[in-house]
Amino acid sequence: GRTQVAIVGAGPAGVLLSHLLAADGIESVVLETRSEEYVAGRIRAGILEQSTVDLLTEVGLGERLAREGDQHHGIYLQWPGERHHLDFVDLVGRSVWVYGQTEVQKDLVLAAHARQQQFVYEISDTALHDLESDRPWVTWTDADGVRHRLDADVVVGCDGSFGPSRGAVPDEVRRTWGRTYPYSWLGILADVAPSTDELIYAWHPDGFALHSMRSSTVSRFYLQVPNDTDLADWSDDRIWDGLAARLGHGLDGWELATGTITDRSVLPMRSFVQQPMRHGRLFLAGDAAHLVPPTGAKGLNLAVADVALLAPALAALLKGDPALADAYSDAALRRVWRCTHFSWWMTTMLHSNDDPFDRELQLSQLRWVASSRAGAAGLAENYAGLPIGF
Ligand code: FAD
Ligand code: DHB
Repeated sequence: GRTQVAIVGAGPAGVLLSHLLAADGIESVVLETRSEEYVAGRIRAGILEQSTVDLLTEVGLGERLAREGDQHHGIYLQWPGERHHLDFVDLVGRSVWVYGQTEVQKDLVLAAHARQQQFVYEISDTALHDLESDRPWVTWTDADGVRHRLDADVVVGCDGSFGPSRGAVPDEVRRTWGRTYPYSWLGILADVAPSTDELIYAWHPDGFALHSMRSSTVSRFYLQVPNDTDLADWSDDRIWDGLAARLGHGLDGWELATGTITDRSVLPMRSFVQQPMRHGRLFLAGDAAHLVPPTGAKGLNLAVADVALLAPALAALLKGDPALADAYSDAALRRVWRCTHFSWWMTTMLHSNDDPFDRELQLSQLRWVASSRAGAAGLAENYAGLPIGF
């Protein structure tokens, strides 16, 4: 077959890109190893920046988000004995929205079906070819074992951290940076009303904890745990006791409500950046090019920001004007590095370890952010997100 843009990966980056390209009259095919249901069911991010909400709304994907999403004006920062609210609207005039990645993905897929977007699910052995020519192509094996070939003008790698696209940039060309953190998150989803109106980020000597939510009846929690933690070692009681202690159950009468746990997993924490984000006719977007630890809630928002830059760049390139496509990598990487720094900063400020010097620095930073308007505004500006194109 033949198309204009071959998109590898049907996560939020890939499906949103196909949506933006279709709005510009550009045809694409989206290729995915997993099934549509599997991709839509993965519990991942939960916080949308203002610019992500604005973009989704502008391109016709904001209707259910406006109805079911929950606007938050800020977050709570906490350490033992103290809880402080940061009001992003007051500090920087921007806010964030609670709306799960599962819901963003469902909205995207619904819109894709409505425009008869071509998807190919449950493929294997995806391979990228002739990326330095004007006629790149992609091959794969379908669920019945049949080999396929798709020719395109451009290939976009939206295949996340395990896909083949990032490695398709030759070693002499690509540069990578990364960090693995000495802790992971144990994340749970529970059928219980949130015990807070806005998210609580808590530093605690036992480890970081986060109280998030998905709706008025579903809460999301994370606990800092050692790397290689076995879920079997964490009974429901141990999880709830850990959350209660770290989130300050009993502090000024605050109580943590518990409920049935419906999903649980352990997530590793990594920073990673690969540049350039374009090589020949291959472009990278989202987790395929960069990973951030989740503490700043940036992963999904960065993927959206990448494709918001990439879609008009590809549209212009296919109409004969390469200027935006040539500028894509540098433009995207400015935001990527800003979010890489912010996510690293939030992570290292909030995760405890046994080093007494680190502990004093963390508490000093937290006190400064919570008590200084300049400190709070810096966190707020980054968390609520810089405008697209910053
Ligand atoms: P993905 O969503 O990873 O999509 C990539 C797609 O490519 C996948 O569907 C994959 O199956 C497909 N693919 C892979 N290989 C191939 C191939 N060879 N051929 C075809 N398709 C392929 N962010 C937050 O902000 N908060 C969170 O709490 C949070 N939790 C997370 C938990 C987990 C377990 C993970 C992995 C990520 C989490 N993130 C979180 C990050 C956020 O979900 C990602 O940044 C976001 O999904 C990036 O979107 P993407 O489309 O770039 O990549
Ligand atoms: C969620 C995840 C995050 O990493 C974060 O910083 C805030 C919220 C969430 O899944 O709800």
